Amino acid sequence: MNTRPAERVAKPTSAPSTVLVTGGAGFIGSHACVELLDHGYEVIVVDDHSNSTPQVFSRMERIAGRFVGAVYELDIRDRPALSAVFDRHSVDAVVHFAAHKAVGESTRMPIDYYDINVGGTTALLSAMHAHGVHQLVFSSSCSLYGDAGHGPLDEATPVAPTNPYANSKWLCEQILSDVCHRRPDFTVLCLRYFNPAGAHPSGLLGEDPCGTPDNLMPYVAQVAIGRQERLRVFGDDYPTPDGTAIRDYLHVMDTVEAHRVALDHLADGPGMRVFNLGAGKGSSVLEVIAAFSAACGRPIPYDVVGRRSGDVPELVADARAVARAWDWHPTRDLAAMCRDAWHFQQLNPHGYAGSARRPGTKE
Ligand code: NAD
Ligand code: WQD
Repeated sequence: MNTRPAERVAKPTSAPSTVLVTGGAGFIGSHACVELLDHGYEVIVVDDHSNSTPQVFSRMERIAGRFVGAVYELDIRDRPALSAVFDRHSVDAVVHFAAHKAVGESTRMPIDYYDINVGGTTALLSAMHAHGVHQLVFSSSCSLYGDAGHGPLDEATPVAPTNPYANSKWLCEQILSDVCHRRPDFTVLCLRYFNPAGAHPSGLLGEDPCGTPDNLMPYVAQVAIGRQERLRVFGDDYPTPDGTAIRDYLHVMDTVEAHRVALDHLADGPGMRVFNLGAGKGSSVLEVIAAFSAACGRPIPYDVVGRRSGDVPELVADARAVARAWDWHPTRDLAAMCRDAWHFQQLNPHGYAGSARRPGTKE
C-alpha cells in the first residue's frame, strides 16, 4: 500500500482555513477529507458512523501524513452536541455530506429520510447561523431529475423526484435557496452528483457499503473478489444501444477535487449556485462490466434479470456549467475508476472489516 504522505499544495489565501465536514467518514466524505488535508486545510469531522467506520481516520492519516483536527461521533440532529463543536472550533465553512442515501430504503422509511436528510440540514444551518458561519457546500443528487429523458441534463432540467431520498435532496435545495434569498450573508454551493465511483489510488480508502451493495460498482467489485456470486443486470430492454441502462460515472477523486475547488469559489459572492457534477459521458451496465473485467483480469459472471423498480434508462450530466464557472474538469475515466475500485477491493477483500462497525439503518 502506498502510505507516503502526499505533497502538500498551498490553498488560495481567499479560501476558508477550517472546514467542518459532516459525514466525513463516509465514501465521498473520507476522500474529501484527504483532499482537503493535502491542500493545507484544517479539517473537523462530525459523523454518527451510521454508515461508516471510524477506522477510516487512521487510513486518512496514512495517506495525508497528518490527522484531521478533530472527529466528533454525533448525529447532526443532536443540536446541543453540534453547537458545542462550533463553540470549540473556529469553523470557516462546512461541507455537508451527512445523509442517508439508499433509494429503496427511503421508500420504506420516508419519515426517517426526511428527518435525517432535511431535519439534519436545518439543524446544521441553525448551528452555523448561531455561530456566524455562512458558507456551505451541499451534496445534492442527480436523482432529483427523476426520469428526465434522453440526452445530457443541465441544471435547468425540471426536477421530478420519484422517491423520498431524491425528494429530501430537493427539499434541502429549496430550503437552502430560500435561506440564501432571505439572508444575504449565506453562500451555498449545491453540487448535484451523478454516479461517484472508484476509490483512492492508494487502495486505503474506497466504497464499503454496509450489507449487500445497492450500487453497481461496489457490487461488481464484490463479485470480482468472490464475495458475491453473480451480478444481476437489471434489465436489457431499455432503449439504449446495448439495452442496459446508462449512467454518468464520475471518479470519486474527481468528485472531491471539485469540492476543494468549490471551497475556493465560496468567495465569489453570496447566494446559492447549483452545479451538476458528472463526467458528461454515459456508460451502460454492460460497459461497466467489461471495463471492470479488463481491470481485474477475469470475467464478471452475470445474469440479466428484470428491470429494478424506479430505474430510468439514462442519466447523463451536462456538466458544462461547472467547467465554465470554475474551470473544473474530470480527468479520470471509467477504466481508472474500475482499476482503483479493484485495487481497494483486492487490498480490502472484506472492506474495512475488523473494525467495530455499528449497525446502521441501511438494509
Ligand atoms: P455514505 O453513506 O458513505 O456517507 C455518509 C456519511 O454520513 C456516513 O459516514 C454516515 O455515517 C454519515 N451520516 C449519516 N447520517 C448522519 C447523521 N444524522 N449525523 C451524522 N452523520 C451521519 O454516502 P456517500 O456516498 O459518501 O454520500 C455522501 C453524500 O453525497 C450524501 O449526502 C449523499 O446523499 C450524496 N450523494 C451520493 C451519491 C453516491 O452515489 N454516492 C450520489 C449523489 C449524492
Ligand atoms: C447504476 C445502474 C442499475 C446494481 C443511485 C441513486 C442515485 C445516486 C447515485 C445518491 C442502474 C444497474 C445496479 C446491480 C445493476 N445516489 N445495476 N445491477 O441507480 O443510477 O443511482 O446512485 O444520490 O440517487 O439512485 O446507481 O449504481 O445503483 O445503478 O444492473 O446490482 O446499474 O439498474 O441502471 P443509480 P446504481
